[in-house]
Amino acid sequence: MNVLVTGGAGYVGSHAARCLERAGHEIWIYDNLSEGNRGAVRQQRLIVGDLMDRPKLVSVLRDHRVESVMHFAASAYVGVSVERPADYYQNNVVGTLSLMEAMRETGVNRMVFSSTCATYGIPEIVPITENEKQQPINPYGFTKLVIERALSDYAAAYGWSYAALRYFNASGAAAEGDLGEDHDPETHLIPIVLQTALGQREAVLVFGDDYPTPDGTCIRDYIHVEDLAAAHISALNRLGPGVQFQLNLGTGAGFTVRQVIDACERVSGRKIPCRIAPRRAGDPPALVANAERARRELGWHPKYTTIESIVETAWRWHQSHPQGYAD
Ligand code: UFG
Repeated sequence: MNVLVTGGAGYVGSHAARCLERAGHEIWIYDNLSEGNRGAVRQQRLIVGDLMDRPKLVSVLRDHRVESVMHFAASAYVGVSVERPADYYQNNVVGTLSLMEAMRETGVNRMVFSSTCATYGIPEIVPITENEKQQPINPYGFTKLVIERALSDYAAAYGWSYAALRYFNASGAAAEGDLGEDHDPETHLIPIVLQTALGQREAVLVFGDDYPTPDGTCIRDYIHVEDLAAAHISALNRLGPGVQFQLNLGTGAGFTVRQVIDACERVSGRKIPCRIAPRRAGDPPALVANAERARRELGWHPKYTTIESIVETAWRWHQSHPQGYAD
């Protein structure tokens, strides 16, 4: 299939792009490189462009006879979204609607969309099923929910087929050691902890130890980026007339911030200094997936089921690329 991968130079997008190529698809990566890295993609596949450039999107979709879009391009920092909501509405909502209109203009009506567990807000029942109410508590989660809703409306009105994949916490790096997490600035827990292990940071700030969890720190479900990538390929293969679905992608196991730091200490063999800091705005106490639907409907089984196995791949990446793709 001919697939356009927006945000394909980003963290999850680059792993998915590689997985798509290996599965025999023809891909083009569309990325404005505001967050993505050239080093994460094969240059001959990269089209540098912005979601707001609708004429360019139209010609890319037409010229390459694109049949499906995997849409990763987005701003994805919960904390920043609280401080700068305008950027998030602009990029994630207005930008995505520009892409969707370019698709409509060219008759492309299949999309695999990067959604998030942040659309659930503070769930009533954990592990979270797809039937949980979606009541996001930060602008990031809300922007993703808006697009889920738009896709559902486009499906009803224009016959689109789509999959909204609600990731839990994407983490880890490619087994080959050449793709990994490189955000600027980095805000995610595992990279920050490992950068501290490498001596690049003084200490990890633990955002809150007074949450209603066993050790007071937030619980998250860390899912390996290659497992996420594999789910995207399966989801793409299922798209077709009348097919729309939403799936949680997580392992079903939750770890506190302290447990993640402990795992990083075990894997790296280094003592990692940490300090308790105030809670970060927009953080729900616990997010863990019930991913039964993805197992049932896609036959998807994460390969990385322990936090250590996930951290090991990330540790290899950070050791070999202490400056990220600049190395
Ligand atoms: N944390 C710290 N110190 C840090 C960084 C993070 O204590 O320096 C904590 C956070 O407060 C949170 C946990 O570690 O409790 C995980 O934080 P991340 O920033 O790594 O991930 P988030 O859970 O905030 O966000 C991720 C993705 C989003 C997604 C979200 C769903 O980045 O795209 O999960 O919660 F929407």
